[in-house]
Amino acid sequence: AYHNTHTRNHPRRHALHHNTMLRRGLLRCGSIATAAVAAHELSSRSQCASAPAKPTHARMLPLPPIGLGLWKSAPGEVHAAVKEALLFGCKLLDGAAAYGNEVEVGNAIKEAIDEKSVKREDLWIVSKLFNTHHVWEGDTSRPKAALEKTLKDLQVEYLDLYLMHWPVAIEQTDLKPYGGLRLKDGTPNPKLNLKIEYIETWREMLKLKASGKVKHLGVSNFTIEQLEALFKEFPDAKDRPEGNQVELHPYLAQPELVAFCKQHNIKMMAYSPLGSGDSYSGKSYPEKGTGPFQTPKGGMPLLQNPLVKAIGDKHGATPAQVLISWSVANGFTCLPKSVQPHRIAENLGAVNSCRLSAEDLEELKVLDCGFRYGIGYLTGYFDCPNAPWYTS
Ligand code: A2P
Repeated sequence: AYHNTHTRNHPRRHALHHNTMLRRGLLRCGSIATAAVAAHELSSRSQCASAPAKPTHARMLPLPPIGLGLWKSAPGEVHAAVKEALLFGCKLLDGAAAYGNEVEVGNAIKEAIDEKSVKREDLWIVSKLFNTHHVWEGDTSRPKAALEKTLKDLQVEYLDLYLMHWPVAIEQTDLKPYGGLRLKDGTPNPKLNLKIEYIETWREMLKLKASGKVKHLGVSNFTIEQLEALFKEFPDAKDRPEGNQVELHPYLAQPELVAFCKQHNIKMMAYSPLGSGDSYSGKSYPEKGTGPFQTPKGGMPLLQNPLVKAIGDKHGATPAQVLISWSVANGFTCLPKSVQPHRIAENLGAVNSCRLSAEDLEELKVLDCGFRYGIGYLTGYFDCPNAPWYTS
């Protein structure tokens, strides 16, 4: 309700409106930023303290603790969402070529910079190299072509962080981001030719970093085994991924992967932190409750979980804020998606509104049951001739 139409597309009114919001305590960006950064630094320090003698990196990737997730943000909605988030003080935009919205995101970033809502150098712009642009059968031109397109779409000279979206390559390059990967009824396209591939693609990604067009490199949806395989091939610390973005929330806490990444100073980024209620899988799988990665315990939407709600009530916070604070308290960079301004503000203010105690965190541990909302390229989902199933 706070977002009235007069503020739309008018930066000065936006700024004034933003100040009113700050005064009313609906949004406390200064303290949000301070609290969040303090939490982040605390977690980075504790992570450094327990780092192994030869850490992968000298220090953890200094990502802001909360960003704006752009997966599922449709063209037509994402432009306004990005601009609102930047006005609210958000410094991290988590996008990907496969989200099909980089042109619109790019327009929003450019406008925000031109309107002086944010400086380019203060932003973390993240994108991901999709499966269609891995190295395929010796064709090493694909990763560079993907980066060039993303930079052009986003209208930026460089990315702050470029992730390999999945450790999976697809032969076909002419897929539409969504739809092309699936048939009309939503089932996966059985004609896709897929294979596990990340070594050769990573080699090319290192070249992209050397070109200066990418400041930091990371991966997404990688298991411990896949990270270890990458380390073996690229033993030099400077050539290893600085981050791993995976699905992380109280139903899927992934303690072993988290500990492994912490040990190697790999920053964890949490996607679907609110349970991805608007994704294809968020809708159907919780109802089924019994897939290879599903359990009845995890069948309830995260945002409606009574324990999450009760902890929120105790702190005067919303369930979304509890979930985001859980992520931040664990040292993850949390990437909630929203296209609604009041929720974007609510999410960015999570740490300020809800500081979870050690007891809260302990209580939330009972929810961890390995429940995965997004089973993307995991076992059994893509029924393709060459499907690269893995089980961890
Ligand atoms: P919307 O974009 O309409 O706000 P996830 O980040 O786990 O993928 O979850 C995204 C889903 O959660 C979307 O449906 C989004 O809807 C919704 N969402 C985002 N923020 C909140 C919030 N603060 N409270 C309730 N739902 C939210």
